Amino acid sequence: MYVQVAPSILAADFANLGRAVQHVTTDGADLIHADVMDGHFVPNLTFGAPVIASLKSYTQAPIDAHLMVSEPDRMLESVRAAGASIITVHAEACTHLQRTLADIRALGAEAGVALNPATPETVLDYIMDDFDLVLVMTVNPGFGGQSFIPAMLHKISTVRKKLNERGHRAVRIEVDGGINPVTAAACVKAGASILVAGSFVFGSENPAEAIRQLRGK
Ligand code: DX5
Ligand code: ZN
Repeated sequence: MYVQVAPSILAADFANLGRAVQHVTTDGADLIHADVMDGHFVPNLTFGAPVIASLKSYTQAPIDAHLMVSEPDRMLESVRAAGASIITVHAEACTHLQRTLADIRALGAEAGVALNPATPETVLDYIMDDFDLVLVMTVNPGFGGQSFIPAMLHKISTVRKKLNERGHRAVRIEVDGGINPVTAAACVKAGASILVAGSFVFGSENPAEAIRQLRGK
């Protein structure tokens, strides 16, 4: 499976986001990972649909919106209208997760389910036909620059096995938090194929090389 790299703009200079997105696209980013935080579901506040809409003119890469918000249903339409191709919601934030995922697909976006480190993958068992990707959080969401939690490798391989057994080989697993070439290789081995990386890409002197290193080539 082709491994995609999704730089997280959380680690970019917020005063120069357009330029950051433009550069990282030229440097080989497959997706642009946009971390929407509401200061409630997570203890940090970032940006919403208007910023995503502004970024669209700086990149051809699809935008991967990661909604770390308490009531994601309220912003699905605006995030989609802003140009996000993938919309991922947290299982922990959705009372009616199956409906929320159906709503995302009805808007024409790919639907993702994110799982916090403490959330078991069994929440997916009865909604296996309703999402296009699973985002396994490899840190507790809210901040960049945290350390990868090794126990998540078992969750990744369990999700991969479950998907394959149920005939969902095309459903991708995305990993987010503490991703560097070492943790990326372990995640890919366990079954992930989308790697989100904030500090490793934006903190690098050579982001193009950092993206190649993450892909393992
Ligand atoms: C964390 C965010 C991540 C974050 C990753 O809550 O969802 O996307 O930017 O940052 P790094 O790669 O620095 O761990
Ligand atoms: Zn994220």
